Amino acid sequence: MTEQSIIEAIQTIVDPDLGLTLQELQSIQSVNIDGIQISVYIELFPPVHWIAKSIEDSIREAILRMAEGFDIHIYVREILLPRATNPNVLPTVKHLIAVSSGKGGVGKSTIAANLAAALAQRGASVGLLDADIYGPSIPTMYGVAGAQMEAEKSETGALIGYPIEQYGVKIASIGFIMDRDQAAIMRGPMLAGYFTTLMDQIAWGDLDFLVFDLPPGTGDIQLTLTQRVPLDGAVIVTTPQEISVSDVRRSISMFKKVHVTILGVIENMSYFIPPDAPEKQYYIFGKGGGERVAQDSGVPFLGEVPLTIDTREGGDVGFPVVLNPEHLQQGDIIRSITASIVSSIRKNAHATRNTNTIQITL
Ligand SMILES: Nc1ncnc2c1ncn2[C@@H]1O[C@H](COP(=O)(O)OP(=O)(O)OP(=O)(O)O)[C@@H](O)[C@H]1O
Ligand SMILES: [Mg+2]
Repeated sequence: MTEQSIIEAIQTIVDPDLGLTLQELQSIQSVNIDGIQISVYIELFPPVHWIAKSIEDSIREAILRMAEGFDIHIYVREILLPRATNPNVLPTVKHLIAVSSGKGGVGKSTIAANLAAALAQRGASVGLLDADIYGPSIPTMYGVAGAQMEAEKSETGALIGYPIEQYGVKIASIGFIMDRDQAAIMRGPMLAGYFTTLMDQIAWGDLDFLVFDLPPGTGDIQLTLTQRVPLDGAVIVTTPQEISVSDVRRSISMFKKVHVTILGVIENMSYFIPPDAPEKQYYIFGKGGGERVAQDSGVPFLGEVPLTIDTREGGDVGFPVVLNPEHLQQGDIIRSITASIVSSIRKNAHATRNTNTIQITL
């Protein structure tokens, strides 16, 4: 066994998101053999949380197929890609994802809450910003309604707030600062101002992901967000019926107009699974609307989330269903959709780097 033979054995491993081998991606930095110790250094497109484990397993298997009894260490580094725009906004956050929809009540907050929890479950450091000022629901969905954010004055005299941490997720919500009646009398531009404060004056610390739960529609908050925040992209939530789907078309065209990448469409409440007959699926709101709108708009379809009582209960009792080991079926569906979102971000990261490389060589 030589360093070269190990490289040959592992370079054909395919990055499942990008469909390219580690050789094609120039991922293998070095391989060292020291007695029975083998160290493999690789570099992957960010974010790596979902993919690193499966690539590590493939590398380990490939080496053990050649010879047994070695002690294998795999070191994964994320490729650092500088932001194209607004590098000074939320500089300690690597990836920013907005969860949006054209219509109210389709399950944005439920999806945002579970997406953040699924990412944290996988070892990422995650923040969740509840940008729904009229109807903040994240505090309830995380069981921290009524919590007050602690704040202190920074050296420059600005007020800095500390997010509330729950289930490994750092949460900020306008619900921690003011009550619903106060918010109800504010006009759009004032709200956008509050939203900016919420974004800029929170001590998020280093985060792999910040998930934004947006209010419904295409109003001031959405515009402020798209103009000021260097989003990796937006995830659009819809329900299957035509009335919701047509709002999604509007939402997609708004994001396209302001050059925000659409990471994909999630269809929520796709079918009902009765708790006493989990093998059954009732398509209450029709079938396939989310996938059709994704196809028509040329954006990825990320998957269907069934309507289950456990999901609603998880929201009401403040424990996202994806974290509940008693509801693995729903948890696995949400985890798989989260993987698709991460995969969509990684594909874009790869495409961006390739474009940049071409620009340099020109
Ligand atoms: N897949 C699901 N299964 C069961 N209940 C769900 C599911 N998704 C959402 N719900 C429930 O539907 C209701 C509305 O969901 P949610 O608050 O997430 O929607 P929203 O789009 O954020 O609403 P708003 O537009 O008011 O912000 C909640 O009671 C939630 O628990
Ligand atoms: Mg909501």
